[in-house]
Amino acid sequence: MKRVAVLISGGGSNMLRLLESMEGDHPARAVLVASNDPAAAGLAKAAAKGIPTAAVDHRPFGRDREGFEAALLRPILAAEPDIICLAGFMRVLTPGFVRRFEGRMLNIHPSLLPKYPGLHTHARALAAGDSEAGCSVHEVTADLDAGPILGQARVPVLEGDSEETLAARVLAMEHRLYPAVLRRYAQGDRTPLMLP
Ligand code: GRF
Repeated sequence: MKRVAVLISGGGSNMLRLLESMEGDHPARAVLVASNDPAAAGLAKAAAKGIPTAAVDHRPFGRDREGFEAALLRPILAAEPDIICLAGFMRVLTPGFVRRFEGRMLNIHPSLLPKYPGLHTHARALAAGDSEAGCSVHEVTADLDAGPILGQARVPVLEGDSEETLAARVLAMEHRLYPAVLRRYAQGDRTPLMLP
């Protein structure tokens, strides 16, 4: 039974779908939900499901990324995760942190990587006039949003789409893709999953 820690920064809608997916017959279970923001709404959602939570406010650390990560590592290591899922986690992790979990840390990114790494992915897809968009689950490596792709889900860009309407369509696919990829990954299957 793989132990999964989920890192969030906000609402945690992806985190919630991951937790829900692990409740039944599943090769993994959630052991911690941690955030860089003590006010992250996702923390209450995790606690409501009986999952241990932790929060380390990154702001007092300023530019001291290593200091913040050392503090965040304490509850994470105490939970002894086999897998870490970044889900709406908005801090860039140092190579040292990534190396510690390399090969067992996933992230979901709201674009069809390698297109649009970084922020504002939907605005960029709309500005480019793309006919389709989507999301990617990838293994986290030191290069931001560039690790091996474990799954992708495509959605159409529709006439009159705004950043918000496209983001909502992609988010609905994220909620399907991430649990499906985690289930396979927890069983050691790294073949990329393409939806639909
Ligand atoms: C989503 O757009 C997701 O693509 C990105 O973070 C955003 C918020 O996700 N990773 P969540 O609702 O906090 O899971």
